Amino acid sequence: MCGIVGVVGRESAAPRILEALRRLEYRGYDSAGIATLVNGYIDRRRAEGKLSNLAAVLEATPLPGTTGIGHTRWATHGAPTERNAHPHGTLRVSVVHNGIIENHAELRAELEAKGQAFETDTDTETFARLVDQNLAEGMAPEQAAAAALKRAHGAYALAMVFAGHPRTLICARQGAPLAVGYGEGEMFVGSDALALAPLTRRIAYLEEGDWAVVDDAGARFFDLQDRPVQREIRLTAVSGAATGKGNYRHFMEKELHEHPVVLGDTLTQYLDPMTRSVTLPPLPFDPAAVPRLTISACGSAFLAGLVGRYWIEQLARIPVDADVASEFRYREPPLPEGGAALLVSQSGETADTMAALRLLKERRQKVLAVVNVPESSMAREADGAVLTVAGPEIGVASTKAFTAQLAVLACLAIGFGRARGTISAEDEARLTATLLEVPGHAAMVLERDAEIRAMAAEVAKARDVLFLGRGTLFPIAMEGALKLKEISYIHAEGYAAGEMKHGPIALIDSAVPVISLCPSGPMFEKTASNLQEAAARGGRIMAFTDDLGAARLKAFAERVVVLPRVGDFSAPILHAIPVQLLAYHVAVLKGTDVDQPRNLAKSVTVE
Ligand code: AGP
Repeated sequence: MCGIVGVVGRESAAPRILEALRRLEYRGYDSAGIATLVNGYIDRRRAEGKLSNLAAVLEATPLPGTTGIGHTRWATHGAPTERNAHPHGTLRVSVVHNGIIENHAELRAELEAKGQAFETDTDTETFARLVDQNLAEGMAPEQAAAAALKRAHGAYALAMVFAGHPRTLICARQGAPLAVGYGEGEMFVGSDALALAPLTRRIAYLEEGDWAVVDDAGARFFDLQDRPVQREIRLTAVSGAATGKGNYRHFMEKELHEHPVVLGDTLTQYLDPMTRSVTLPPLPFDPAAVPRLTISACGSAFLAGLVGRYWIEQLARIPVDADVASEFRYREPPLPEGGAALLVSQSGETADTMAALRLLKERRQKVLAVVNVPESSMAREADGAVLTVAGPEIGVASTKAFTAQLAVLACLAIGFGRARGTISAEDEARLTATLLEVPGHAAMVLERDAEIRAMAAEVAKARDVLFLGRGTLFPIAMEGALKLKEISYIHAEGYAAGEMKHGPIALIDSAVPVISLCPSGPMFEKTASNLQEAAARGGRIMAFTDDLGAARLKAFAERVVVLPRVGDFSAPILHAIPVQLLAYHVAVLKGTDVDQPRNLAKSVTVE
């Protein structure tokens, strides 16, 4: 989703902004641009497509100036062309924006009637022209921006510069994240701490409704009613060094290979290997007293939540509802007095999940966020947070963050079960021991890379693919399908194996790979029967199983990848890795943009 950078600096701004925008590339974008103040005038360069195009434009026609703003745009209103690329504005003001100005049509009509001549199809230009109109009517930049913010409805993070004010930048936040960075005699603005990591680690976050004037004197923050407010400067944990690809071809490949370390780091936060017990951080609710739990999240994080539902219901016997966040708030679910909710998110900024959070809090539910970015809006606004320790995830497709979410949810399920007395101390010790083996097992799964690559060569030829699983492996089948769609652009569906005969079996022929997650265990016989039903109709069966399962499946499966025998509880964590690896190899074979697949954004900050 759109990325924002701003600099009030001492050296040439454009190269620093370009570098910071590179660090926001992971969010997904389709055009980019920079505006700086040159001798008091605004000048800008923009380009459609990748940042390399903008870099080429800047090389051909350099942009001087030490103060400026930059943007990577993920198109919402208006095609991803150079004309619609940010910054937008006039001779007086230049604006970059992340989000949607929902009342743009009404504002546009009003401004056109006042003589403003629009140049683009974007909602952002209405905001820029609103500020311009205020400036033209005699307001100073601060007043002009504050007045415009009161007229704009919707979600936004904004940064703007003004002609004749070469050391000032104004920024604002309503529904999309924004951080102010403090340097040595320089100031910065960025969509996240990662963008600013090489420039500074001293960060203050704007809160909902805040706007700020950033200049040589530092930053002055105001709330929606223009009252001065203080925002704490923190030392961010995000390091500028942590985001290289190393020797890997793609961030996704690197992140896949980080699974053992990430799972180890996450699990050791919450498991004690000596006592074989779970230690959870302070929770905002008492699991023993909770009548019902609501889980809400988006995309892969939602699928992790679905696995969490199985675990929490089985181990803690708490009834759990799980909804995609974009549906949850419109479903008007009755929520019980004393109820609690779990939100799951890598970024902690996803707009739909944030909207769910606010609704849950309004309905007096106690909200616990399972989140990867400790300084994110979600971690700060929820009543409590349990962190996944996955480190920065740059590939748009979630990999290590997803399995880390599963690891945390598994620990929560055990902890809740103990608190409610629905599992014994012996059960806790056994389940903890199982989880402690997960990092080692993850390393063993990664050793199957060559076999998975060979399977990918077959899958890459398909137009449609079915993923099947039962129980906690059903959400992992959906994760396999989501990942394949996302980065290889092959149509895929994840189905409960037993549900296939109620519809999708009609799709099966010799061109459709049926990829099953089918380890030995209580669900094995039934899933194997479903696979035989598919094989009998010419379906090409490919299976992830263990040695016991392989003995049976080899009779009719085209390909069988043998994973370690791990038991039911940790199976979803370990089966997520091969389906992600499979999608990765298919995408590489198809030559897609693995880390930044078309149309997708890493952190989806619009609803
Ligand atoms: C997964 O591969 C996706 N890119 C996407 O579904 C993602 O999980 C979703 O957008 C939620 O993001 P979050 O975890 O940052 O909230």
